Amino acid sequence: MPDHSVSSLMTADQALHQRKGTMTDPGVLRADMHAEDALISRRSIRAFEYEPVPDDLTRRILEAARWAPSGSNIQPWKVHVLNGNALQKYTDAVLAAEKNGEPREMEYHYYAPEWREPFLARRRDCGFGLYGAMGIARDDRMARHDAFVSNFKFFGAATGFLFWIPSDLEHGSWLDYGTFIQSISIAARGWGLSTIAQGALGEFPHVAHQMFDIGDEFTLIGGMSIGWPVEDAPVNLFQPDRIDVDEFTTWLD
Ligand SMILES: Cc1cc2nc3c(=O)[nH]c(=O)nc-3n(C[C@H](O)[C@H](O)[C@H](O)COP(=O)(O)O)c2cc1C
Repeated sequence: MPDHSVSSLMTADQALHQRKGTMTDPGVLRADMHAEDALISRRSIRAFEYEPVPDDLTRRILEAARWAPSGSNIQPWKVHVLNGNALQKYTDAVLAAEKNGEPREMEYHYYAPEWREPFLARRRDCGFGLYGAMGIARDDRMARHDAFVSNFKFFGAATGFLFWIPSDLEHGSWLDYGTFIQSISIAARGWGLSTIAQGALGEFPHVAHQMFDIGDEFTLIGGMSIGWPVEDAPVNLFQPDRIDVDEFTTWLD
């Protein structure tokens, strides 16, 4: 079998030498994890220990994620890192806005206006699975609401991100942003950290615009919680399945 483990372009060691020289040393051990293991062990975590991710480690993760590809290398990302008090202040402001019934309008449409199959069934499975894992009955609207509101509390994490994109950019740049967000999650896995991408953090955008003095030249996409999971939290045991490769792939020779 041919050995394809070493790329003829640049080995991992060469890349590390060339790029890592400028990267922060976070002062903690990095797990020896295959890229595939980082991908398949990533799970969205919804109960975190309240433990801030040290800035050097957060920086190191962002230093890795910035190598995400983007069309014409335009790198359309803009990130706020919220730690401790800053995160609490933002959470408080969003919770107050929610309580006061302030407008809850994301600055873009995440989903199509009409749900249809097969997406509707997948969405239902995901929702029922999630609430089931938390022991919340389907008709318990109050408990479902409370579970949703945990999004705004960054699921108990002490570190989170908000993601912004220049408002004049098009679909392609949103694609770029997806690669960036997943890169953060995978880089975090390499350091034994867990994450959850959160569109919900794009709700109440006026709170973020005001608090961080950002004009409408930027659109709030959402955010992410990052940290160490509460190991025995039932919600973290929820593992939504995936469709098979052959369901979405056409093989041609
Ligand atoms: C861009 C993006 C936004 C998401 N927003 C939320 C969110 O606001 N709240 C939430 O609980 N999960 C959110 N998720 C997590 C998805 O529900 C989750 O990825 C999906 O159910 C698959 O589960 P897994 O990530 O554990 O494999 C989001 C995921 C992505 C990629």
